[in-house]
Amino acid sequence: MAKSKSAYFCQSCGHETSKWMGQCPSCKQWNTLVEEVVEKASSRVPEWRSTAATPSKRTNKAAVIHEIVYTEEHRLETPDAEFNRVLGGGIVPGSLVLIGGEPGIGKSTLMLQLALSIPKIRTLYISGEESEQQIKMRAERLQQSSNANCFILTETSTQNIFKQIEVVAPNLIVIDSIQTLHSSQIESAPGSVSQVRECTAELLRFAKETNTPVFIVGHITKDGSIAGPKVLEHMVDTVLQFEGDRNHVYRILRAVKNRFGSASELGIYEMQGAGLREVSNPSEIMISQRDAPVSGVAISAMLEGMRPMMIEVQALVSNSAFGTPQRSSTGYDTKRLNMLLAVLEKRFGFRLSAQDVFLNIAGGLRVEDPAIDLAVVIAIISSQQDMPVKTSIAFAGEIGLSGEIRAVNRIEQRIAEAEKLGFDGIFISKFNTKGLDAKKYGIAIRPVATLEDIFRSLFG
Ligand code: TYD
Ligand code: MG
Repeated sequence: MAKSKSAYFCQSCGHETSKWMGQCPSCKQWNTLVEEVVEKASSRVPEWRSTAATPSKRTNKAAVIHEIVYTEEHRLETPDAEFNRVLGGGIVPGSLVLIGGEPGIGKSTLMLQLALSIPKIRTLYISGEESEQQIKMRAERLQQSSNANCFILTETSTQNIFKQIEVVAPNLIVIDSIQTLHSSQIESAPGSVSQVRECTAELLRFAKETNTPVFIVGHITKDGSIAGPKVLEHMVDTVLQFEGDRNHVYRILRAVKNRFGSASELGIYEMQGAGLREVSNPSEIMISQRDAPVSGVAISAMLEGMRPMMIEVQALVSNSAFGTPQRSSTGYDTKRLNMLLAVLEKRFGFRLSAQDVFLNIAGGLRVEDPAIDLAVVIAIISSQQDMPVKTSIAFAGEIGLSGEIRAVNRIEQRIAEAEKLGFDGIFISKFNTKGLDAKKYGIAIRPVATLEDIFRSLFG
């Protein structure tokens, strides 16, 4: 009798070894190698869907690049403009797209909404997590359950899934989630590295050979990476991350990798009682409406991906009740906050070391654009001095260690967005003004070189 073959897989990075080891040689994590059966004792089914199937009969010949005829692939546009944008202009036929996100963030909702929203094509939503009734209930909640071209299948075996796919012949497939699938080619449990890899490989083959787009949902581990190995990210064409604060209603869909478009695109959604709604003008929701200006608030003209948006930074500085002051920030890097506080203390003599500093980015967004630094500093000083800043002024600049205001990218886009939203003025770095035609804009552009300049003009 043939012996079954097994190997050891690192559960964190997917590295494969033939022997057990205490430490993974690739990612250096301890105790992550787990034995998994990779091949069953019985002979394999020579199916075209299996990765171990007979080698492809198609023999490709090398071709001179200028002889290759290229036709623009026809992309499938969904009614959801945010989704199209993140994908780089619609769904590419035959693409395999992975959607990662924390539990409860709305991946299933987004995918079901996608499957239901395109009645002109046949869609198949395959769930290994919920029952048909549960999915139907969700569809009713989304008020779209009348699409006669959307099929639901609750199944976890890939072999059965492919049988059903032959019956239904869908033009678009959603798998929710890859961690629940199992292939009979592999003996290990669903969700294990080799199982996830095999199922993805089968789906990849299917997508490429039939030119059907396949969306797979993937869970995220505690440290934020997509569970199952990194190899999954290499196998698929596009990786989208669905993120947001579960206590807030806003969700961001971000392209992390995209073979068919830019990887810095992003879509914003609002989770409502009846599903996800596109937010086409994010600036309007990220700024709170107020009658009179309050201290500790500054508005930054920032970029998320390629998209400019105005966002409100809120700070609260108060005398510390305890010996060690608290520093806490939501949506902004705490290390960077500490650095900015040190700059303010050392270079400008603000006595912040005995004060608590709380920082919040409105709307539950996480901002990584360095151009928000200037608004962070202004919000902090405005709160400490208890002097409000006019909310009709925006800020865009990065702060250096000596308190200088550094240039940021795509300044024209930021200025144009501020102008569009009716701001009267925008503070930018002096080093950003080269080649900038200030007369073109109907908004006052205020170039500043150091924090000192800006404090003088704002707080006197
Ligand atoms: P879900 O799509 O199940 O998340 P995931 O698949 O990523 O685990 O969505 C979970 C949350 O979304 C759930 O807490 C309820 C909420 N929700 C709404 O607020 N409105 C809706 O219309 C739906 C369907 C869900
Ligand atoms: Mg789900």
